[in-house]
Amino acid sequence: MKAVLNYLKANQPRFIDELCELLRFPSVSAQPAHKPDLENCAAWLTQHCRQLGLDAELCPTKGHPIVLARTPRRAGRRPHFLVYGHYDVQPPEPFELWESPPFEPAIHGRTLVARGSADNKGQHFAHLKAVEAYVKTGTDLPCDLTFVLEGEEEVGSQSLPPFLRQRREELRCDAVVISDTGMPAKNLPALTYALRGVVSLEVTLRGPSRDLHSGLFGGSVENPAMALSQLLAKMRDAKGRVTIPGFYADVVALTPLERKQLRRLPGSEEGHRRFLGVPALFGEAGFSSLERTTARPTFEINGLTSGYQGEGGKTIVPAWARAKITMRLVPSQRPEEIMKAAIAWLKRLCPPTVRMEIAPGHGAPPYLVEPSGVHAQAALRALRAAFRREPVLMREGGSIPIVTDFKKTLGADTLLLGLALPDANAHSPNEKFDLDCFAAGQRMSAWLWQELAKTK
Ligand code: BES
Ligand code: ZN
Repeated sequence: MKAVLNYLKANQPRFIDELCELLRFPSVSAQPAHKPDLENCAAWLTQHCRQLGLDAELCPTKGHPIVLARTPRRAGRRPHFLVYGHYDVQPPEPFELWESPPFEPAIHGRTLVARGSADNKGQHFAHLKAVEAYVKTGTDLPCDLTFVLEGEEEVGSQSLPPFLRQRREELRCDAVVISDTGMPAKNLPALTYALRGVVSLEVTLRGPSRDLHSGLFGGSVENPAMALSQLLAKMRDAKGRVTIPGFYADVVALTPLERKQLRRLPGSEEGHRRFLGVPALFGEAGFSSLERTTARPTFEINGLTSGYQGEGGKTIVPAWARAKITMRLVPSQRPEEIMKAAIAWLKRLCPPTVRMEIAPGHGAPPYLVEPSGVHAQAALRALRAAFRREPVLMREGGSIPIVTDFKKTLGADTLLLGLALPDANAHSPNEKFDLDCFAAGQRMSAWLWQELAKTK
């Protein structure tokens, strides 16, 4: 292990340069114009994995390619672990709020700023570098590893489930490791044992057959933007509760022990308020911000469009209005049930003066795994060794759609070992990744294979 750790220490500047190279690909999965960038990014990763001494394969899919990279197999059955990551990133817009261009990585002290730096390129790259250290120092890796790096996580991971089914035998493993979550503070490592699920849909209200002069016609027809605003306003009550009938029926309450653990995490409500730049916090009555964002479900408007958006004014009654919506789910809500209940409720509330169109989008179930198992305990030991601090156990509010497929298809639980700090600005302008977390993540990965191999 000494050689591995020394190798990591000695090579940080080169690792950072390589990570910058990876970050220069504008691999925005949501925007079709970036398809070639996703392909080039996947090809670069495949090539990079080969340089590290891995057997790497670039696997085309109906969507963006999947990179599969395996450590050279040795004779005999050994423990096998999967490392999952995603090389696609969220759209960088609005560009004007970036202090440096999103795909031109900038380093300030120990901070690397670029879209995808924390979510997720920097995090899975830390694992690749740990494996490089084993290979290049000739240190025996005590288990087999397979990297699965996909390009559709930010758009719902549609191609990966069929790929897992196709390659089930070769991918069967003892556990999956993902670093695509957070940690509460620098030097406070975390094992995340729950994620929220998500369902998404788009609702469009159509009124007149074209935009109308609001002076000539306004007052005689429903305004779709007004109808949509009123409809959306009914989806949540004054206490922050979602009004969809049955929405909370399957929600499992936090245990008293979990509430106590949550209160021990650093951070205050006032600090949270200031960090978010709001005049006052808001959320479901009776819960703290941490509880609201990790263990309670929500209904969010992600985008709202109608009428004239250009400069100056335009006196019209718009022909249509549209909202992009996601709901975050917690154990044991089921995406299909919630989608059905939400659609039924929207239809019930829709006035007869407009036509409603609903386009259901992707969905992912919530995830919860007891942190008492042997793999989780091994992960905690690796975190202790790398950070020299006692790790915390936490739930998080984001979603990683594929984790339930790993369980269903491969029978494997997932260890979520996040390296992003709370101010990483994931999905926001000026996304950043802390370079000390990058280095600690590499050490954590190096220890992890030792600790996980012992569990067999
Ligand atoms: N890395 C995030 C998920 C995450 C972030 C989990 C922080 C826990 C803490 C991931 O890339 C992500 O953003 N997922 C999407 C999935 C969605 C598009 C289906 C999300 O949560 O919005
Ligand atoms: Zn993300």
